[in-house]
Amino acid sequence: MAGDWVLGIESTAHTFSFGLVDANGKARPSSSDTLRPTQGGIHPREAADHHVEFSSALLKNILEDNDLQSSDIGAIAYSQGPGMGACLRTGAAAARSISTHLNIPLIGVNHCVAHIEIGREQCGCDDPVLLYVSGGNTQVIARLDGRYRVLGETLDIGIGNMLDKFARNHGIPFPGGPVIEKRALSWLESNPNPSLDGLELPYAVHGMDLAFSGLMSAANKLVREGKPFEAVCWSLQEHAFAACIEVAERALAHTGKTEVLLGGGVACNQRLRDMSTIMCEEREASSHCPPRMYCIDNGTMIARLGWLEIKHGRSTSLGQSGIDQEMRTDQTPVSWP
Ligand code: ATP
Ligand code: FE2
Repeated sequence: MAGDWVLGIESTAHTFSFGLVDANGKARPSSSDTLRPTQGGIHPREAADHHVEFSSALLKNILEDNDLQSSDIGAIAYSQGPGMGACLRTGAAAARSISTHLNIPLIGVNHCVAHIEIGREQCGCDDPVLLYVSGGNTQVIARLDGRYRVLGETLDIGIGNMLDKFARNHGIPFPGGPVIEKRALSWLESNPNPSLDGLELPYAVHGMDLAFSGLMSAANKLVREGKPFEAVCWSLQEHAFAACIEVAERALAHTGKTEVLLGGGVACNQRLRDMSTIMCEEREASSHCPPRMYCIDNGTMIARLGWLEIKHGRSTSLGQSGIDQEMRTDQTPVSWP
């Protein structure tokens, strides 16, 4: 007899992660490992090799950490897309073999929707506008007519990729976002009343969409011109985050919703969290952000969405379990409350 825990596997990009929810859908911390290339960007095949290498040890860890046997697992969920093909395939293959071996249902889920659902579970918000800011994705999403609709998104690169690339240009290895946050803070410590004079960057908002590569080129240029690197880090955060918050605010106005939920790895950033809080207070809305371990990619969010989908009658047959690198947020019917 299988148990009633749901195990989730995340493998869309750098991170391979197992996570769990219990029979009531309550989240348990994930067991994860992230490939951090010392030079250059991420190579999908290297990341996939990393995932295969770490998968059995991570699975063992998560079962031991939660004092579970494999027989306690009642269903296995995995990220079916979007993401890098080679990486997604490692998670799908692991999920298929666990499903077959334990004779339990398989459920392929949408990674972006999983970021939303773990945030709703953790923060207790009901019907938010989601500001989903990660390496590969930057989207403003709201639930309308049974789907999570993308109201605005990046037209070029994800905000996290932009931060990582800017950092890499200046010798900082992946992930650059947290280092930029620290450098911006140290600029503020030595300049309590900072000014953007001479540190202006292009406006990244295009209607309801965003674009970040122009910001990055302009920030690189400022550094080349001799502006202090820490000052440019601060300015880059101010401009890029203000643009995201502006689109989220427009989404609140258009939809009439009253909650903002942050998700994705860049939502670990305290300045972004603070900007969202300020904007929401001004509009009499509320801003929510899950703990950092559930902002970055994690298996628990996949388990949570798998749990919701299975509870509402969906599962994935082996024949339909192929990955979809381009899976869209609004492709997933949202049948749960
Ligand atoms: P997705 O597949 O959803 O695009 P991802 O592969 O980018 O996700 P995440 O773990 O969601 O993975 O996000 C990683 C990104 O988050 C990196 O770009 C990293 O620099 C950024 N990041 C992490 N912490 C911070 C921080 N404190 N400030 C800014 N950016 C951060
Ligand atoms: Fe993600």
